[in-house]
Amino acid sequence: MPSPIGTVTRGTTGHNRLRRVDRWIATLPVLRLTDDPLVADVGYGASPTTTLELRDRLARVRPDVEVTGIEIEPGRVARANAATRDGVTFRLGGFETPTPGDRAPAVIRAFNVLRQYRESEVGDAWRIMQNRLQPAGALVEGTCNEVGRVASWITLDREAPRTFTIALRLADVVAPSVVAERLPKALIHRNVPGEPIHRFLVDLDRAWAVSAPIGAYGPRQRWIATVRALRAGGWPVLHGQRRWRLGELSVPWESVAPNA
Ligand SMILES: C[S@@+](CC[C@H](N)C(=O)[O-])C[C@H]1O[C@@H](n2cnc3c(N)ncnc32)[C@H](O)[C@@H]1O
Repeated sequence: MPSPIGTVTRGTTGHNRLRRVDRWIATLPVLRLTDDPLVADVGYGASPTTTLELRDRLARVRPDVEVTGIEIEPGRVARANAATRDGVTFRLGGFETPTPGDRAPAVIRAFNVLRQYRESEVGDAWRIMQNRLQPAGALVEGTCNEVGRVASWITLDREAPRTFTIALRLADVVAPSVVAERLPKALIHRNVPGEPIHRFLVDLDRAWAVSAPIGAYGPRQRWIATVRALRAGGWPVLHGQRRWRLGELSVPWESVAPNA
């Protein structure tokens, strides 16, 4: 068997840490439409908690979902295998995303994995995982803080990155640019003047500041006003209030993609 592609990194994880991105994954059309609801979780960490939680959350919208947790550190796979239950398997592997029967996953989640790699390694890692997807599949790659209250991710299909999303616990937000510390690897070093992600975060903070009076109705209303202000300012914000009220905000990838 060829060696797994990637390197072992710290295994920090925790209960409920990935609930925001799981909520997003549960809305992906491929999950409902696919004939083979296999989801891969690449780099689940020191304990398999977030893989088990992913299975439970996705089973609410797709009861026959099957989740495979993949880890590059053998001891973590042995420990996880002791926790196997229906609809969940674990295996040793890397970005090549090995699955039961070598089936193509409908969705690959890779969270807090690339953070510990170099920016120059992101493109190859993405491509290897994208090539494993079903034709309508999605790769969701991102980062969050330890407790999952500040998160951001990129959603890719087999061809290209398509959207960038941030998700915040609104009650905690002082300035939404707090997400700068938890950007995906492809963006985190690009938060400097002249780069689109920098302009996006500056405009987002400004929109949040001018929406302060709406805060009297609660942080959720203030966030919705913020997103509207951002859109009015020309940012091609996606979706509508149903997603925004969760503290989410998505834009097409092209609008924040790093300069070449
Ligand atoms: C910080 S933990 C993240 C755990 C979990 N996904 C979370 O967000 O809470 C990152 C894990 O990814 C694993 N890892 C790093 N590169 C990997 C790769 N190429 N393939 C599979 N696992 C990888 C590391 O060994 C580590 O256990």
